[in-house]
Amino acid sequence: MIKVNENYLKLKAGYLFPEIARRVKIFSQANPQAKIIRLGIGDVTEPIAPAVIAAMHKAVDEMAERENFKGYGPEQGYDFLRNLIAENDYQSRGAKIDANEIFVSDGSKCDTGNLQEIFDIANVIAVQDPVYPVYVDTNVMAGRTGASLESGAYEGIVYMPCTEENGFVPQLPDRAVDLIYLCYPNNPTGAAATKQQLKTWIDYAKKNKAIILFDAAYEAYITDSQMPHSIYEIDGARDVAIEFRSYSKTAGFTGLRCAFTVIPQGLCAYTKDGRAAELHPIWNRRHCTKFNGVSYVTQCAAAATYSKQGKKQIRKSIDLYLNNARVIREQLKKLGYKVFGGVNAPYVWVQTPNRLGSWEFFDLLLSRANVVVTPGAGFGAAGEGYFRISAFNSPENVEKAMQRIAELYK
Ligand code: MLT
Repeated sequence: MIKVNENYLKLKAGYLFPEIARRVKIFSQANPQAKIIRLGIGDVTEPIAPAVIAAMHKAVDEMAERENFKGYGPEQGYDFLRNLIAENDYQSRGAKIDANEIFVSDGSKCDTGNLQEIFDIANVIAVQDPVYPVYVDTNVMAGRTGASLESGAYEGIVYMPCTEENGFVPQLPDRAVDLIYLCYPNNPTGAAATKQQLKTWIDYAKKNKAIILFDAAYEAYITDSQMPHSIYEIDGARDVAIEFRSYSKTAGFTGLRCAFTVIPQGLCAYTKDGRAAELHPIWNRRHCTKFNGVSYVTQCAAAATYSKQGKKQIRKSIDLYLNNARVIREQLKKLGYKVFGGVNAPYVWVQTPNRLGSWEFFDLLLSRANVVVTPGAGFGAAGEGYFRISAFNSPENVEKAMQRIAELYK
């Protein structure tokens, strides 16, 4: 008899964003006249930069020419892109990362979800709470947790509360953990972490022979010049950290799909009998077996984001979204909301009025203002009593959404 992977049956609810989409669909079918503004899922709305589009057109034409046609590319990504990443994203900031340590992929969601499979099932994982649900759900699917509890948490996971009191940067866990997921600038709270704060984590990981999975998908939104864009800007990180980056929010690639993961040469985990095993060749083996590389056209698009024009044009979109975040922060503050984030990140994290339940507040905003946000509880137990507003939309829609929320108070 064929058996199902029962770990999937432990999953508490549908994945957060399809669940929101389901509720929005039901509402809009019942209210077809409602002009819904979506500030829920962090999906970009600005078109791809002209320099990137031009590079894609050129690459498409090359694919039509016998002498330039490309079949399978290197699974790890073309050298032209890996070299640009190493120079622009790392070496220019003093981080010693080589092109051969970079794995180009089709998304950080996939990479942060897949990477756990190269680690033993008995490892103890630690996540921030609230947290991007992919880190938790993929460990549930893999069988690294027990059942889900009433609070929405899973047995066996160490949750590290991120609260107003700790500035949304968690305290070190009071027990030894093996695999630590950190995301800065943070999704969903919009908080950024300083070099000193990350150094504490690096020291902890060294002491406990743990690995940090550092998700830096939103680094392009950092406005504070003191904040690190990469964990590798901090001494010692190469020995304990893997970093994820994405073109999705940096260059509007959510529909195009391109990202990369950095695994430093020499970074190790351990066998049961204590021998060090290098992770780079293990991930390389996994990557080559399960992945055939990102399309040539898409990698040419990613490379164009590093051109002079490309950099200028993608900055314009990032600044537009950051300005939306400022408007959201200011308007909600004026209405008396307690707001966080939105300065070094495209997300604003807001306390619900009168500590209303976050799904309750989601329903209220949807039905009375026709505005979609993300309920904080969808990101974990510590997200209850909060909601997240995404700055990814047009300035017009953001203004309109803020007006509608303001009208709720008249
Ligand atoms: C979010 O809204 O949290 C993100 O868009 C989800 C993602 O990047 O997968």
